[in-house]
Amino acid sequence: MQQPTNEQFLEIAQQFGTPVYVYDANKIVSQYQKFKSAFNSPTVKIFYACKALTNINILKLLKLQGANIDCSSINEVKLAIHAGFEPQQILYTSNGIGFDEIEEAKNLGIHINIDSISNLKKFGQKFNNSYPVGVRLRPNIMAGGNIKIATGHDKSKFGIPITQIAEVVDIMQQYNLLINGVHIHTGSDIKEADVFLKGIEVLFDVIHLFPNLMYVDLGGGFKVPFEDTEEETDMITLANKILEKFNQHLHQNKLQIWFEPGKYLVSQAGYFLTKINVLKKTNNIEFASINSGFNHLLRPMFYDAYHKIVNISNPNGTIKEYDIVGNICETDTFAANRNINEINEGDLLVFYNAGAYGFEMSSNYNSRYKPAEVLIHNNQISLIRKADRFEDLLKNQIVVL
Ligand code: LLP
Repeated sequence: MQQPTNEQFLEIAQQFGTPVYVYDANKIVSQYQKFKSAFNSPTVKIFYACKALTNINILKLLKLQGANIDCSSINEVKLAIHAGFEPQQILYTSNGIGFDEIEEAKNLGIHINIDSISNLKKFGQKFNNSYPVGVRLRPNIMAGGNIKIATGHDKSKFGIPITQIAEVVDIMQQYNLLINGVHIHTGSDIKEADVFLKGIEVLFDVIHLFPNLMYVDLGGGFKVPFEDTEEETDMITLANKILEKFNQHLHQNKLQIWFEPGKYLVSQAGYFLTKINVLKKTNNIEFASINSGFNHLLRPMFYDAYHKIVNISNPNGTIKEYDIVGNICETDTFAANRNINEINEGDLLVFYNAGAYGFEMSSNYNSRYKPAEVLIHNNQISLIRKADRFEDLLKNQIVVL
């Protein structure tokens, strides 16, 4: 698959300035199609975990492909509705939220996965069997690229621990609840099928307890390559193993299998385009400081995540070693001791894998603007979000002095 060319990046930088996020629509579509065709089963439903990237155009693009959508807040639900998703295409997998949000979600007619005994009880008390609901369980499996994105282990805040399943059943019986789904999400950046298979086994041990079950939701967390040496989750192998497991255990059952991929669909489609402000040579390190910081791309600092960086202004320059740093009043190192084609002030650096949790985790720290977003769709380059302006920094402030 053709990625955007250096000429396109240079044109975008010239037209819209930097820093700027750039998304390649073709790549999103091809990742979605790869996922869909690997499973190729009417019982499988894909819900795009939109927390990865919520720009309305991306939501619409995935909707056009036939995707459903998974939300992690009521505002994401509202964005999904705004983008044209029907209530039955929207899933709200909650965690630690107030009951008022669950009520709001119920009133919007969408699917809900409840992740605490407390909210499940409140749901039962208020709605009994008038509205089916799913439960998010914690399978007590340790998996994920790093501890911050591992969510299924026995010290994680996410989900109802599988060891408390009897309590879930008690509440279901007490309030006549229609529990129609069981959900797990073990973590992010998971390459091997085995983790998903282990999760399925945990769920298979309990699904007989739920007579109204319609779906088993296996969450997201599929791996994509960040370094050139890495590979993404092999979807065909994963799909075959999962479908085989379901066929073995549930041959007379027509349970749906739901997934919530985020990174897999949008990570590789995104690029973050920045410019070198200054070079600073010290005794042993050459710092290359870009016109951005962890206010725009937090992953390297928060997760020690590796993002490939390319100097598109000097693609054939001599390879030299740099620390790529930001302009924020913090130690915001994007990459240490990184080999990159020789950098000059004013050069443009492109960060790869910036589609998922890039713009979405950005902030206005140091009173800097959130960057613009650009979409390349059918070779057409369009601005899909303006960068902040000074008024945005003051917009919600109330002056009392
Ligand atoms: N479903 C649930 C319930 C989730 O909590 C998540 C991610 C997903 C699906 C999608 O996971 P994905 O397919 O994108 O791995 N900000 C971190 C990742 C945190 C993910 C939080 N939940 C990062 O940049 O690596």
